[in-house]
Amino acid sequence: MEKRNLGQSGLQVSVLGLGCWPLGGGWGWGDQELSQSIATIHAALDLGINLFDTAEGYNEGHSEEVVGIALADRRDRALIATKISPNNTDPATLRAHCEASLRRLQTDYIDLYQVHWPITDHSVEDAFATLQDLQAEGKIRAIGISNHGVRQMGEVFQTGTPIASNQLCYNLLSRAIETGILPMCRENNVSVIVYMALMQGLLVGKYATIDDVPEFRRRTRHFASSRSGTRHEEPGAEKEVFEAIAAIRGVAEELGLPMAHVAMAWVAARPGVACVLAGSRTPAQVEENVAAASVELPDDVIARLDAATEELRVKLGPNADYWQTGENCRVH
Ligand SMILES: NC(=O)c1ccc[n+]([C@@H]2O[C@H](COP(=O)([O-])OP(=O)(O)OC[C@H]3O[C@@H](n4cnc5c(N)ncnc54)[C@H](OP(=O)(O)O)[C@@H]3O)[C@@H](O)[C@H]2O)c1
Repeated sequence: MEKRNLGQSGLQVSVLGLGCWPLGGGWGWGDQELSQSIATIHAALDLGINLFDTAEGYNEGHSEEVVGIALADRRDRALIATKISPNNTDPATLRAHCEASLRRLQTDYIDLYQVHWPITDHSVEDAFATLQDLQAEGKIRAIGISNHGVRQMGEVFQTGTPIASNQLCYNLLSRAIETGILPMCRENNVSVIVYMALMQGLLVGKYATIDDVPEFRRRTRHFASSRSGTRHEEPGAEKEVFEAIAAIRGVAEELGLPMAHVAMAWVAARPGVACVLAGSRTPAQVEENVAAASVELPDDVIARLDAATEELRVKLGPNADYWQTGENCRVH
């Protein structure tokens, strides 16, 4: 599996990473057997994936526990990326939360420790100074951020903290970061770790109509605010989403490839992207996504996919918070 540099951290990450949120099961994800999660993580490692992404906030820490159990006897082969919730980054609480993650993960160091969303209610400078202390102590190897917009990245850079990566939602149906965030990451050698590359299954082609999409996966600005579970105030772009999916499917069929492979290959080819997370839940899904990671799309196909999703890109605009809008928007 191809490896890429993660910013200037010195870490080399596989181009495909395993998103471990679904492996914790529970809210939104439904039942997930521990034995299947362990088999999925082991399959990923054996097929060349070295980055495992989780968060203290996923399934109340259970996702971290599952990663810890699965990697306990093969820690040296894996890079563990976890996240701290912004409200826990006050210097008084940050250390305790880092220690709790280390315990759940059954390890004494975290390879990449990411601030899950921008900090809004206390000092950014103090939080990142504490993160640098933890790095100097060897408890974390690299510091990352997630869901940070242009202004918020600027605030973090002001602290002088070396930032390895910004983890962001990016896929053929969600291209907001192209407007300002992705160029800023590239200019500053901050790698992008992509989440929701498959748009939680929409880009696998498993949902023929909107009614087939489970409520939990229908909460983004792609869908009308009148749909249950949404937290935004926009009309959505449902027509454009399904038109774009039909066009992507058409390109995939011409190439003789599954749509998921085309979606993964498109995002992996974007300059600035170091790693693409896919939330595989079974060894079979891992195998499928590993196969996708080796696909290279010719430039003209990439241009056709860009064109096929342009109307949707424009309609959804530059807001990189796909869940919230207006005064509740979290990415600036
Ligand atoms: N930083 C953040 O704020 C943030 C936010 C969201 C996610 N993330 C990270 O990114 C990871 C990925 O995001 P995600 O899990 O939400 O979305 P995703 O990777 O776009 O979609 C995951 C879902 O896609 C389906 N899937 C995956 N591979 C498949 C395959 N080969 N064939 C068929 N279906 C397949 C599975 O659906 P079924 O369940 O139907 O099998 C799986 O649950 C997360 O696990 C997490 O680590 C980060």
